[in-house]
Amino acid sequence: MRESLLTILRDEKTPVDQFRQAAHQLADLLAAEATAFVAEEPKMVKTPCGQAKGMEALQRVVLVPILRAGLAMLPSFLKIFPRASVGFFGIRRDEATAKPQLYYEELPALKSTDLIFILDPMIATAGSSLLAVDRLASRGASQIVLVGIIGATEGLEKLASQHPDLDMIVAGEDPQLNSKKFIVPGLGDFGDRYFGN
Ligand code: PRP
Ligand code: URA
Repeated sequence: MRESLLTILRDEKTPVDQFRQAAHQLADLLAAEATAFVAEEPKMVKTPCGQAKGMEALQRVVLVPILRAGLAMLPSFLKIFPRASVGFFGIRRDEATAKPQLYYEELPALKSTDLIFILDPMIATAGSSLLAVDRLASRGASQIVLVGIIGATEGLEKLASQHPDLDMIVAGEDPQLNSKKFIVPGLGDFGDRYFGN
């Protein structure tokens, strides 16, 4: 399922409506996977017929999509984490240098116990996600999970070496970047394809 959704996204012939649908379905799967990171504690509840031993989520979840493309993943994560707080980074890569530029930041006050999911479908050089992780860490974040759709090996390795405590979930890993720092084979410019530009 994951692989066939990824294939729809990769196919350059996929029209915008099907691209959006596949992106949302894949984000649903990633959001379900992300639940494994939420700490829980035992809880007893009374059912109509007796006592049941269960679990209760302990942590506040904070969702931080990186604009624009990360917005595509937000509805899926809000479905799974309906009480989550939401913050935003606006980060765009300079077209000539591929260096990330932060143009917007709006975050809730963070607590060290928060579980933070950064949402960004594409991790290429990892410049954008590293900037997001660094800014969250400087505001007191201690548990961060980066969730992406495709990660380039180079970017994923850079993240792992600079932030050994960072957890990552990606649907696919691609081996290369081209001279413009686009992921190969990748899927092209996610934001342009999702927003119909
Ligand atoms: C894309 C993508 C990531 C970034 C990945 O955003 O959504 O944020 O590039 O590249 P990196 O790992 O080399 O930093 P882009 O700058 O195209 O902005 P957009 O989401 O507004 O389209
Ligand atoms: N951003 C994208 O949308 N695609 C890439 O391949 C690299 C960065």
